Amino acid sequence: MTVKTLDILVQRSTNPRIETLDQNNLQFGKVFSDHMFVADYKDGQWDNLKIMPYGSLEFDPANSMMHYGQSIFEGLKAFRAEDGRVLVFRPDMNAKRLNTSAERMCMAQLPEEIFLEGLQALLEIDKDWIPTTPGSSMYIRPFMFATDNFLGVRPSETYRFMIIASPSGSYYSKPVNVKIETTYSRAAMGGTGSAKAAGNYAAALYPAKLAQEEGFDQLIWTDAKEHKYIEEAGTMNVMFVIGDQLITSPLTSTILPGVTRDSVLTLAKSWGVDVVERAISVDEVIEAATKGTLKEAFGVGTAATIAHINSIGLEDDKYVLPAIESRELSNRIYNYMEDLKRGRIEDSFGWNMSI
Ligand code: COI
Repeated sequence: MTVKTLDILVQRSTNPRIETLDQNNLQFGKVFSDHMFVADYKDGQWDNLKIMPYGSLEFDPANSMMHYGQSIFEGLKAFRAEDGRVLVFRPDMNAKRLNTSAERMCMAQLPEEIFLEGLQALLEIDKDWIPTTPGSSMYIRPFMFATDNFLGVRPSETYRFMIIASPSGSYYSKPVNVKIETTYSRAAMGGTGSAKAAGNYAAALYPAKLAQEEGFDQLIWTDAKEHKYIEEAGTMNVMFVIGDQLITSPLTSTILPGVTRDSVLTLAKSWGVDVVERAISVDEVIEAATKGTLKEAFGVGTAATIAHINSIGLEDDKYVLPAIESRELSNRIYNYMEDLKRGRIEDSFGWNMSI
């Protein structure tokens, strides 16, 4: 597979909507900037790279993505630093992970430079859409889907890659109440759980809806075989502070390798925290919550950032965790990561791409 050209055609919007942006009332993923990046894959190469006005797409009813689900995505964020720089957090990790997902879903590989240069071109043209109000950011959604119009079950031979950008507020506006799921599964060993495949999210909607009807905000998935071990939360990886250890599940074929997960583990290790990646059982979490040794629990994700877990539900029981203000490690991590991503402190890990 080769790249014909990295020349990106720019078609500017003739109807800019920037005046409609209300920075003080941003929700997550509801408004989109004026432009989008598009590239098409055909005959073994990526072509037709362009920035064009944000707008609807037209599909043939036989489009195979709609029938057989070859669709993957990424999520990352851009920020405007006080000195005016546009900073994007670890986009190289997302470009790589998109290709890992593409491999698992039998889709075309995307050269990382198309991902990164497309992203850069989009942010350059729509930089005024990057919000600066506290807690807000430009949430960026790169995605790739099959475009063959064919009903036979086989990998598509053509694909489209796109990037859209959404000035957004927080994904979770307050600490979350989670339920440990012991009936349904998000992913099984050997399945697609470690890929950022659209279908994984679809499969989670029904159990999540049942949990929301019981008053929970989110699920914590357990292993599909025995429902004994903690996995992740679907919108984020999960971490626990038990005693003085920071514990999270290791990366297996059922867990998404989160960019925030990697960043938090790297950061905590650099501070000398005892970080352990190992299978963590539901029993262990509940026992620690009962004994009072479960000091903190939190989700980590691009959209979720550091999401404090307020309480954990398991079957008919609910375990309320210590007050958020008392949670030293997750609060320290949250503050450091926010300062780093917003360019307020030195980027000692070299994580920010500056545009
Ligand atoms: C992200 O954190 O970027 C994600 O893709 C999770 C999403 C479901 C909001």
